[in-house]
Amino acid sequence: MTIVEQRGVHVRGLRRVFGERAVLDGVDLDIAPGEFVALLGASGSGKSTLLRALAGLDGEGSGEIDVPGKHAVVYQEHRLLPWSRVWDNVVLGLRGRDLRKRAEAALAEVGLATHADAWPLTLSGGESQRVALARALVRTPDLLLLDEPFGALDALTRLNAQALVADLWAEHRPAVLLVTHDVEEALLLADRALLLADGRIAREYTVDLPRPRSMDDPRFIALRRDLLDGLGVRTVATAKEAL
Ligand SMILES: Nc1ncnc2c1ncn2[C@@H]1O[C@H](COP(=O)(O)OP(=O)(O)OP(=O)(O)O)[C@@H](O)[C@H]1O
Ligand SMILES: [Mg+2]
Repeated sequence: MTIVEQRGVHVRGLRRVFGERAVLDGVDLDIAPGEFVALLGASGSGKSTLLRALAGLDGEGSGEIDVPGKHAVVYQEHRLLPWSRVWDNVVLGLRGRDLRKRAEAALAEVGLATHADAWPLTLSGGESQRVALARALVRTPDLLLLDEPFGALDALTRLNAQALVADLWAEHRPAVLLVTHDVEEALLLADRALLLADGRIAREYTVDLPRPRSMDDPRFIALRRDLLDGLGVRTVATAKEAL
């Protein structure tokens, strides 16, 4: 029997400097195998820089980074090649047999089985992001890196896409790092939410709520307020309290 060791993410003292500025300045981060972690922080705080370092797309940082070899990334833009059919995009760069079948299976998982032969330009924004998810899934990653994958979607499509990610995660259980600006998205999906500020993980929130989660749960509402406070966002309610 072959025992495959499932590794999580282990980062210590990660530092990345652009010019004079240390955008990442001693990031320590652990993600257990199968754990879902959300990463929040102000625009420009270094979230994408951290994600790129984990994806192995930026070799310039210093520090210790240990991530599973099998990882996949989904970005805010779907990054599909317009001249390749949907199924070809899903298995882009892969080799081996039965690629068409593997693409179809992944597309079925995101509800796009009938779109295998479509051209990317004929898809809606939500469908394109689902293809991007299928392209990640087909690689059976142990670590899924998501950089604001639903940031450009309208509110309803976004809710559906979040539910899809929750289902896919429950089914396949990769470790996930989800970069998002959306506090509710973080609380709906993640086991932990981390706040990146001043180049480090400044705060950590454990989201100890049963799934599927409800935004009406008083504990959800309390966590939402904590997170918004951490982000320095004044909500209408807190603004009124301050009057
Ligand atoms: N290749 C680069 N060269 C120079 N500066 C860079 C480079 N990449 C990122 N930066 C700078 O590093 C900082 C962090 O960028 P990053 O893209 O990681 O932020 P972010 O937290 O993902 O922001 P957003 O929420 O807007 O996506 C920014 O000030 C950005 O301008
Ligand atoms: Mg970013």
